[in-house]
Amino acid sequence: MTPVRVLAVASEVYPIIKTGGLADVAGALPIALKAHGVEMRTLMPGYPDVMRLLSGADEIRSWPDYFGGPGRLLAGSRAGLDLFVLDVPHLYARPGNPYVTSEGADWPDNGVRFAALSRVAADIGHGLVASFVPDLVHAHDWQAGLAPAYLHYDGGRRPGTVITIHNMAYQGKFDRDLANAVGLPWNASFDVHGLEYFGGISFLKAGLQLADRITTVSPTYAREIQSDEGGMGLGGLLRERASVLSGILNGIDIDVWNPQTDPHIAYRFGAQDLTFRAANKAVLQQQFNLDSSDESPLLGVISRLSWQKGLDLLLEAIPTILEHGMQLALLGSGERDLQDRFQAAARANPGRIGVLIGYDEILAHLIQAGSDALLVPSRFEPCGLTQLCALRYGAVPIVSRVGGLEDTIVDIGEAGRDATGFKFGPVTADALAGTLRKAKAAFHDKATWRRLQRSGLATDVSWRNRAGEYAALYRSLMAARGV
Ligand code: ADP
Ligand code: GLC
Repeated sequence: MTPVRVLAVASEVYPIIKTGGLADVAGALPIALKAHGVEMRTLMPGYPDVMRLLSGADEIRSWPDYFGGPGRLLAGSRAGLDLFVLDVPHLYARPGNPYVTSEGADWPDNGVRFAALSRVAADIGHGLVASFVPDLVHAHDWQAGLAPAYLHYDGGRRPGTVITIHNMAYQGKFDRDLANAVGLPWNASFDVHGLEYFGGISFLKAGLQLADRITTVSPTYAREIQSDEGGMGLGGLLRERASVLSGILNGIDIDVWNPQTDPHIAYRFGAQDLTFRAANKAVLQQQFNLDSSDESPLLGVISRLSWQKGLDLLLEAIPTILEHGMQLALLGSGERDLQDRFQAAARANPGRIGVLIGYDEILAHLIQAGSDALLVPSRFEPCGLTQLCALRYGAVPIVSRVGGLEDTIVDIGEAGRDATGFKFGPVTADALAGTLRKAKAAFHDKATWRRLQRSGLATDVSWRNRAGEYAALYRSLMAARGV
């Protein structure tokens, strides 16, 4: 097996900094790739949390003026990951969420902040760090979208490039003047075949147009984004580039998500003996101020609260939850309006609807261990990770029929395959309510429910084979480029 060196570029990496599933993927993939002969190092911005956790990192390069202020490139390791950190305090030394101010508005200089990340990625691609000259640069999402663009416009010999779309809804759109300001050749790049996007520029579009290969995080999402609706403006481009676009499902870190060893749950359990789930359910009910009852099906949700996730449909389905004696435990944060509406629902239905607004990793584990079913009613979902964790914890997923949810869950009505959960479509409140009723009936048929849980627990949700698909893609790209 020829070893392959890959520079990954990601704006968040678990367990260092995370706002969503991108961080989980960027944190788990490099480790899983080792078994496939891929040496991956990851470049990320030096946000305050990153600088704190990598305080012993080595400086390998410094610039007096990097995009308007001093900057350094550091190399260090953390949690089994080999990292390059771009430490540019005037761009990244800001507390809180990496993308938005404390008022929730995008940082006005996000374009420069993430162009700077891509610029150094391209330079590492050209050989800036003699001890690590990558064969390929793998960019994740719009924040890294300019890396393939810089490599393309720089000219000369360059590594191969791959971009992975984790979410088509975030496209990194900026004013056209930014292209010049961040050192892209205006004449060559401001073009429909380059950065230009509806009169401005888009970092995601640039990456999709100029990378050698495009992947997204499920085969179904790879098809959906080639439509005008799913492509959110980029469907035409993706149809044109369909021959280099593929979908590779995400996995989860099965050591972090292991009910047998999980330090965050009240009672550990193995796949063979699910009786301790009931004890976790009781603790979960306490934590969410729900009535203690083993007989009420407890629905769990762990989610960003955004339009994508379809949770407004769940609000509409609350009467069904109440009417059928179910309970809801929701952990999430995001849009103010959804937060308020869920909190109001909890106030109006004490003991039945429990809502915690916030981001809480520990509680997320308890929800997986203690809820009977895990709900993901997304309008679109590139892959989705919480339903994979649910499979591993014996919580039965109830999901909409979109993207990676379609690919990772087998519906109870599907013939010839071992069912692992419930899928509904179209993505409406009525269809969701109908499926909740069906799930409630199945819950009370103990043999059926056990069967669903057991098939879920037997499903491979690890990165092992999926990392192999990335490794195969890297090797085929290198072969196609004659390396
Ligand atoms: P997305 O990336 O679109 O938010 P995913 O399902 O791919 O959706 O990944 C979400 C990740 O973030 C999962 O690991 C999930 O457990 C975690 N997560 C989401 N919301 C919360 C929360 N409020 N508290 C703790 N973990 C959360
Ligand atoms: C995105 C998507 C989610 C996916 C995650 C990791 O945030 O919304 O579906 O699982 O990225 O790829």
